[in-house]
Amino acid sequence: MSHSNGSFSQKIKYLDPATCTPHFAWVKSRARNASGEEVVCERVPLESAARKFGTPTYVYSRASIDDAYRELHKGLGALPHTLCFAVKSNGNLSILKHLAEMGSGFDIVSGGELHYLQRIGVRGDRIVFSGVGKDRYEIREALNYRVHARGGGAGILLFNVESEAELEILVEEAERLAGRGGKPPAGAIRVNPDVQAGGHPHIATGKHEHKFGLDWPEARRLYLAHSDSKWIRWQGISAHIGSQITTLAPFRRALKRLAGFVGELRRAQIDLRYLDVGGGLGVRYSDQKPPTRAEYARLVSQMVRKLGVHLLLEPGRSIIAPAAVRKRIEARRLWWWTRR
Ligand SMILES: Cc1ncc(COP(=O)(O)O)c(C=O)c1O
Repeated sequence: MSHSNGSFSQKIKYLDPATCTPHFAWVKSRARNASGEEVVCERVPLESAARKFGTPTYVYSRASIDDAYRELHKGLGALPHTLCFAVKSNGNLSILKHLAEMGSGFDIVSGGELHYLQRIGVRGDRIVFSGVGKDRYEIREALNYRVHARGGGAGILLFNVESEAELEILVEEAERLAGRGGKPPAGAIRVNPDVQAGGHPHIATGKHEHKFGLDWPEARRLYLAHSDSKWIRWQGISAHIGSQITTLAPFRRALKRLAGFVGELRRAQIDLRYLDVGGGLGVRYSDQKPPTRAEYARLVSQMVRKLGVHLLLEPGRSIIAPAAVRKRIEARRLWWWTRR
């Protein structure tokens, strides 16, 4: 829906969020004495939210989050999978709680994010821990993670190991824990599939020269070296090639490589249960034309089905960005636009 706002300053690039954020729309104003249109999020006028909470106010559409989650979920069909929302993309506790209630798992990159999940009662077997530079304390916290109120075992679903140094710490900590009756943690190695993925150079992570993940020869060496370990159980392999990717081709290339790695490990008697393909699907901010979540999910499903693994997906932006606008009052005028 397009709209022209007479009070809008041409100096600021104006983007009408109603064109790319579903569940936000222009409607005839219901305010007393008003004659124009106003923006609503699921029938709630943004202006009233801004007046109530002050600005800047961040407004999220629950219906949009639900649609995004369900579209991915449905697109993956019968493939065994868990969507693990990337907490780094939005750590709002109400949003996390809502996603947990929908059945989402979570991908975290810090001890702080783990703490958020503990506060809202997310079970450890719904959490994967990614992220470069996890420190010993964070690893220990994740190994001992427990949601007291709900009982259950300690620990998390999967550690996505990003370096040999991190693996050493994880193994040391797991050994310490085993001395007190703990079980060996499940691990995956984040590999760098050496794939050029769209997005901005600063958020592309899947090429050999990027610091994220291990090159395959290095990853394979670590898988083999720890294949009989008493302190870690290899359960998965992971990759995340970047963010705001607006074509399917890089995902297709990365999945092909990952499938090859899974096969190679299987031939070496390392049979992985989880394939974690990260996040990265782009969204429309202005003139981008990303694939739909359903198209993306279908591609992933088709390529992963034959591997006989459980898929983990770590979507962030593709769930939360279309659900959000920020509203602020500036010079006594009301502006609103999409989050950047
Ligand atoms: C390891 C990992 N997983 C998932 C994500 C989420 O990516 P996106 O928000 O592009 O879906 C990121 C973001 O950088 C990431 O680093």
